Amino acid sequence: MFERPQSGERAILLHASPTGAPDQAEREEFVELASSAGAVIVDEIISARKRPEPRYFVGKGKLDEVLASKRQHDADLVICSAALSPSQERNIEKHLKCRVLDRAGLILDIFAQRARSFEGKLQVELAQLRHLSTRLVRGWTHLERQKGGIGLRGPGETQLESDRRLIGGRIRVLNARLEQVDARRTMNRQNRVRAEVPTVALVGYTNAGKSTLFNALTDASVYVQDQLFATLDPTVRRLELPNGREVVLADTVGFVRDLPHELIAAFRSTLQEAREADLILHLIDASDPNRWQRVRQVNSVLQELEADKVPQMRVYNKIDRLDRAPRVTNNRAGVGRAAWISAITGEGIPLLLDAVGERLRRETMHRFIRLDAAQGRQRAKLFDIGAVLSEEPCENGGWNIELKMAEKDLRRFLKRENLTEDQLEPLPLPATAINSQ
Ligand code: GTP
Repeated sequence: MFERPQSGERAILLHASPTGAPDQAEREEFVELASSAGAVIVDEIISARKRPEPRYFVGKGKLDEVLASKRQHDADLVICSAALSPSQERNIEKHLKCRVLDRAGLILDIFAQRARSFEGKLQVELAQLRHLSTRLVRGWTHLERQKGGIGLRGPGETQLESDRRLIGGRIRVLNARLEQVDARRTMNRQNRVRAEVPTVALVGYTNAGKSTLFNALTDASVYVQDQLFATLDPTVRRLELPNGREVVLADTVGFVRDLPHELIAAFRSTLQEAREADLILHLIDASDPNRWQRVRQVNSVLQELEADKVPQMRVYNKIDRLDRAPRVTNNRAGVGRAAWISAITGEGIPLLLDAVGERLRRETMHRFIRLDAAQGRQRAKLFDIGAVLSEEPCENGGWNIELKMAEKDLRRFLKRENLTEDQLEPLPLPATAINSQ
C-alpha cells in the first residue's frame, strides 16, 4: 500500500517565521524533515509575516518570489513549515501550478514511508485519509498521484479525489480493524498488569537513539537507521533486570515538535503504552546542541497524551561523542533521576538497568486491600484515582480490592483515611502469563 520514497523530488522550503528572524533550530529541523522524506531541497525562502494572509498565507510579493524560484530551479513541490488551511494550500497550488504541502502533510508522508507493522500502517493510513479528506479537489495532481511523490504516497489516490464517500467507507473499515488491534493490545497490557510486570516506555525526540537502546537492552532486532522516525511502531519486549525483576519494555514512536493532530489521534492507542507505563525513560541525545528544546517538545507531547504524570527518568545518550563518563544521579528520595549512557558502546547500560530496577521497586505497589462495608467512601476514592484493578465482594458486605498505585500515594492514602497497613495483603501468584507482542 505504501510506496518507497521517491527520492529526488525537487522541493522549495518556505520557512514561515512570524517573528521575522527564523529560529535556526526550527529551520534545521524542517530541512531534516524534508530530506528525510526524500526531497532534494533546491531553495529555501523565508517569510517573515507576523500574521498569515488569509488567502495565500504569505503576501503576494513573497508568493511571486516562490514562483520565480520554482521556475528557476524547476521545482516539483513547495513545502511550508507552518500549518496551512486546506483553502490556502489550494490557492497557493493554483498560483504556483505545483504541489504544496504543509508541515503536517510532510510528517504524515514520512510516517507513511516508515510504517512497518500492520497496526502502524493502518494508523498512518487513517491519519492520511483524515488529513486528505479536507484537501480533495486538486485537479492537476492526477498525474503526480499516479507517480507517487512526497505527500502523495499512501491511500488509493485516484479514488481519493473522486469520491468522499469512498474515503468515509475506508475510514470506517480502518477504524474497525484498529479497534480489534486495540482490543488485543489492551488485553495484553491488562495481562501484564495482572502478572505484576511493570511496563517501561522509551520515549524521545526522533533520532535520540531509542531503537539502538531498545536493541542493546533486549537483543531484539528492531529496525535501526540514521533517519528520522526509523521507529514507528511500538515494539514490546520482555526484559529481565539485574535484580531479577521482569519488565516489559515498550518502544514508542519518535516524537517531533508539534506532532500533527491527525497523527496523535491515530496513534492514541500506541501511545497509550507511554501513558500507562510505570516508568518513562525519556531518551535525550546529549550531543545535540538543541537538546533542551527537544526535551521541552517531548514533554509537551507527553502532556498532550496525558502521560506527564508517569514517573520519568531522563537518559542522556551518545556520551561516546562527548567527554563524559557514564553515571546515574539520584533524586532527593535516593532513586535514579537521570542516567548518562551510550547505547552504541553499551557504557552506562548496567547502571541504567540497576537504577530502573530500584526505581520500579520503590515506586509501585500491587496489593490487595480489604475494606469493610462501612468504608464505601474510601472504596469510591480508590476507583476515582484509577488505582483499582479488580474487586471481589466479601461475605461481611465489604470488598477485597486489587490495587496498583505508587507506593508513596498508597501510604498517604492509608494515613489520610485512617486505614492501617494490616488491611493490605500481598498478591497471590499471578496465573496469567505475559504476552509479548
Ligand atoms: P526514530 O526512529 O527516528 O525515533 O529514532 P530513534 O530514537 O529510534 O534513533 P535510532 O536508534 O534509530 O538512532 C539514530 C542514530 O543515532 C543512529 O545513527 C544511531 O546509530 C545513532 N546512535 C544511537 N545511539 C548512539 C550512541 O550512543 N552513540 C552514537 N555515537 N550514536 C548513536
